[in-house]
Amino acid sequence: MLDKVKKYIEEVDKFSSNSIEEIENFRIQYLGKNGIINDLFYSFKEIPPNEKKIFGIELNKLKKNIQSKINDQKLNIKNTKDDNKEIDLSLPATKFKSGTRHPISIVKNEIIEIFKNIGFILSNGPEIEDDWHNFTALNLPKDHPARDMQDTFFIQKNPDYLLRTHTSSVQVRYMEKNKETIKILSPGRVFRNESISARSHCIFHQIEGLCINNNTTFSDLKSCIYYFVKSFFGEYTKIRFRPSYFPFTEPSAEVDISCNICNGKGCNVCKYSGWVEILGCGMIDPNVLKNCEIDPIQKSGFAFGMGIERITMLKYQISDLRLFFENDIRFLNQFNLSI
Ligand code: PHE
Repeated sequence: MLDKVKKYIEEVDKFSSNSIEEIENFRIQYLGKNGIINDLFYSFKEIPPNEKKIFGIELNKLKKNIQSKINDQKLNIKNTKDDNKEIDLSLPATKFKSGTRHPISIVKNEIIEIFKNIGFILSNGPEIEDDWHNFTALNLPKDHPARDMQDTFFIQKNPDYLLRTHTSSVQVRYMEKNKETIKILSPGRVFRNESISARSHCIFHQIEGLCINNNTTFSDLKSCIYYFVKSFFGEYTKIRFRPSYFPFTEPSAEVDISCNICNGKGCNVCKYSGWVEILGCGMIDPNVLKNCEIDPIQKSGFAFGMGIERITMLKYQISDLRLFFENDIRFLNQFNLSI
């Protein structure tokens, strides 16, 4: 009889299962009403008195082992379930944040769209330019004092090459190749040796336009600028042309709009004048046309150029230009909806 109990102890020890059903059957087999344990207790009276003690000890050991075996096996099943938690395919997927378009790109695209509607097409050129396309062809021969208007980064090995200071160089390249009607827009990065502050940077973006035809006049330029300003800043924006000087245009003007931050009443952005400058423009100087082998008697045209950072700052009331270059996600996320 004692041997029988010891055999059961060994069997219980070997038992292992991942199935709740099997564990339950195991429990019934040993601890059920008609199970092995009850049978063994029943046969207690048949045991000779001198063996009763040891039989009792072994029987209790068997019962205890069965109970802890059942508990262990159940716990095991629970833990394996927890380990597999992350592959629960019914859970919603992890959301990945996608990037957003940079405010400079948003505004650039908006400006392009406005000018495309009146027939302008895009033209691009290199960021490393030669002296001819950036200066000389634009009526700025060497030693011309107006070269100082734009502090230039020259390429050390060959100062005939430089980082373009404006995208007017693209217009020269286009005029050299196209002699008929021209209506182009050239957006791009430009570089000037200026200190970095809330209002200036050594890298920024420009968008320039050029329109040449048989009898283009200053009133064509004016209507083009009026159309742009009203489309971009709103129908009620006031516009004024101020006489100015650029070597490549004659006559030249700078365009101001009524300050959209204080509505013309005066604030620190418009320096209490009620007006903010947005672009430079003018009629192409005949010397520029000649340099590009276009006959200034036959053709005339206008050009304009603006800084995209400046326009974006005015549109979104941003007070520090450096924000555009810092890639601070808290700043960039604010333009989420504009994509
Ligand atoms: N190229 C000028 C600048 O960068 C802007 C401009 C373009 C002015 C065309 C007049 C005509 O300052």
